[in-house]
Amino acid sequence: MQTDYIGHDRAYQKRRNDPNYEGWSSGYAEDWLRSWQPMIQTTAFPKQGKLLELGCGAGNLSIRFVQAGYEVVGVDIAPNAIAWAIENAAKAEVKATFLEADVLDLAEIADSSFDIALDGRCFHCIIGSDRRRFLENIARILKPNGILAINTMCNEVPKSTYWLDNFDPRSRQIIHDGIATRYIGDSNDILQEIMQVGFRVIDVEIVPPKDAEDLADLRAIAIKLS
Ligand SMILES: C[S@@+](CC[C@H](N)C(=O)[O-])C[C@H]1O[C@@H](n2cnc3c(N)ncnc32)[C@H](O)[C@@H]1O
Repeated sequence: MQTDYIGHDRAYQKRRNDPNYEGWSSGYAEDWLRSWQPMIQTTAFPKQGKLLELGCGAGNLSIRFVQAGYEVVGVDIAPNAIAWAIENAAKAEVKATFLEADVLDLAEIADSSFDIALDGRCFHCIIGSDRRRFLENIARILKPNGILAINTMCNEVPKSTYWLDNFDPRSRQIIHDGIATRYIGDSNDILQEIMQVGFRVIDVEIVPPKDAEDLADLRAIAIKLS
């Protein structure tokens, strides 16, 4: 299936000038409290260290992780997202590094150089065999016993027109004009993908959908087996 990861840049170009968006979406303060703070508070999540956010967008999560005490690098394929993230970090007066990079490559990131890899909802953008490449790259850049923390859409899709029109139940992909833009896997299948590249899953939660138009999130923490 065809992909267009760089296509996210067109969305950022528009959203940067739209007051309804704080980044890829909006409502990050609420998202932080609902999704990320509970994750940090689990015993499985390291309380400090070097954290790489994969698909950091406009840096909204990365900035909050800096404020929570982590040393953060954010990468994203979209140049407009990275420019926006640098601007947002300056406004928030936090020190973070943002790099334009493809998470399927990450040549800029040295092997075994991070304590934590954070998937701030990028993994569900990655399609087909690229998903294994994404996970193998994460295993490469993590230190021994490094932590992968993911938050990714999963399981049932809403029963509304948008999903009926765009979701292919066989591949579990959202497809627009022949381009696969999202993978909504079964949570057990996603956990299997993670374990297959040498991680042990140490904490799992399925966060239920907020409303009838929302999807559940698989929130998982996995440790790299050295
Ligand atoms: C759903 S958005 C989430 C963005 C951000 N983490 C947030 O919470 O606002 C997914 C992000 O992944 C990025 N992305 C998608 N494919 C990518 C790739 N191959 N390499 C790097 N970033 C990618 C997109 O540009 C987008 O910023």
